[in-house]
Amino acid sequence: MKGQNFVDRIVASSRRHSSRVVLALDVVADESSQLLERALSLVRRLSPYIATVKLNYHLLLPLNLAEIKEIVDLAHDHDLQVIADLKLNDIASTNLIASDYLWRAGFDAVIANPFVGYEGGLEPVIKRAHEMRKGVILLVYMSHKGAREGYGLTVLDDDNEKKKIYELFIKRAIKWRVDGIVVGGTDLKILSSIASRTKGELLIFSPGIGAQGGNAVKAVRSGADFIIIGRSIIFSEDPVSTLVEINKKTSFN
Ligand code: XMP
Repeated sequence: MKGQNFVDRIVASSRRHSSRVVLALDVVADESSQLLERALSLVRRLSPYIATVKLNYHLLLPLNLAEIKEIVDLAHDHDLQVIADLKLNDIASTNLIASDYLWRAGFDAVIANPFVGYEGGLEPVIKRAHEMRKGVILLVYMSHKGAREGYGLTVLDDDNEKKKIYELFIKRAIKWRVDGIVVGGTDLKILSSIASRTKGELLIFSPGIGAQGGNAVKAVRSGADFIIIGRSIIFSEDPVSTLVEINKKTSFN
């Protein structure tokens, strides 16, 4: 897989595993040693049934970089890509420090917030990521109800026309040449309208499936390339069967 960029790598591993599922490894435990063990054990057990692993603050805050790298390395050993869900949201110099730590830990892609803008915000992160064949995924419309208060705002574009702010984010995602976008799988009207404008240009990652009320099959039919799922797999009595069922209904054929 060396030499391939993030998009090629994630699409290839997703097809090899016959799964569109990005597992949100949102493990909780009282002790951080338990967190690491639980995370590693979930990756070992579920790797044949998922496309990718996503790490969020659940692990990024309590674990040290060496422990995080252990999870990332294990995921790579099992032919999985690994996404850092930091929702990067700061000035360029800080964003670069954060993303450099992530790349050193072996992550393949990072989620970032387009609200911070390009110049002095995300530009150097995107450029450095691509030099290293890493990916950047932009938040375009989040999965929770309150998303409409920010990502659903109506604004004036450069031509003084009224637009939803997420419509501007789509244009920026294409112009900035990022690798994918996050669009919640909970509002299917917005998801399908965004998918119709980005088809073939950007991968769509849809969270909000299961615990937040979204439906995997409907999200994929509405244009999601990948579905991000956490609690309804991790806390399922039988995570393997849950995944097999989801994959049967949402994989590529
Ligand atoms: P659940 O348990 O709800 O977990 O299946 C979902 C995971 O995805 C994160 N999440 C989001 N990440 N944009 C993101 O980048 C979103 O709109 C979004 N909604 C949920 C959530 O933090 C958890 O890790």
